[in-house]
Amino acid sequence: MFSITCFSNGKELDIAAADVFSEQLRQKPSSVLGLATGSTPEGLYALLSEKCARGEISFRDAETFNLDEYAGLSPDDPNSYGFYMRDKLFSHTDINPNKTHLPGKGDENGAYDAKIAAAGGIDLQLLGIGRNGHIGFNEPGTPFESTTHMAELTESTRAANSRFFASLSDVPEYAVTMGLSTIMQAKKILLLIKGQEKFRAFAAAYLDAPSPCVPASVLQLHNDVEVFISS
Ligand code: F6R
Repeated sequence: MFSITCFSNGKELDIAAADVFSEQLRQKPSSVLGLATGSTPEGLYALLSEKCARGEISFRDAETFNLDEYAGLSPDDPNSYGFYMRDKLFSHTDINPNKTHLPGKGDENGAYDAKIAAAGGIDLQLLGIGRNGHIGFNEPGTPFESTTHMAELTESTRAANSRFFASLSDVPEYAVTMGLSTIMQAKKILLLIKGQEKFRAFAAAYLDAPSPCVPASVLQLHNDVEVFISS
């Protein structure tokens, strides 16, 4: 079930998303959080970092699992999602680095999903959406039953992400990603959609019958999805 809220700008969306995370941490300081990277959550992470610095929230007892990580990049590579998370959020909070996880080699075939289950399951999963309807790096055609796996990135996703790299040829061709079934295990999902170029993908995910052709459409089968949209 989707609950959809539209905001007049990205800043308002970020504030509302930061409130959702802050409330989650206040209600359950030991929350297990599923995190995303990319442009969409940057404002949210900045606000959470500020709130933590002011002592309004704490990540001390929280544990995090990121959606995905490029294959073949070292954690020190500025384009790795591990670097992104330290840069945008972790290093500005009181989180225990040992309780932050990104999927890597060996996490396919159930291992990452087992770690998430051992931590108690994800309480709140943050998602962005790709212009082709992907969530995590679950590209069109990914089965709804998929667990954490190695995914081949589509050319359109590599082109979209090449803005962070020196050139398109530097963008990795593979990534390890939570599967759609992994994402669906989260107790609550917060999907952030910023920018009109994402509206068509969300419309297909929300209005058409659920189909692997639009990976985000699987979310219609979840009972607690909050969607925040801004242009
Ligand atoms: C990132 C992720 C991706 C992004 C999506 C949107 O961890 O899983 O699914 O959420 O590609 O990316 P941005 O926010 O850069 O438009």
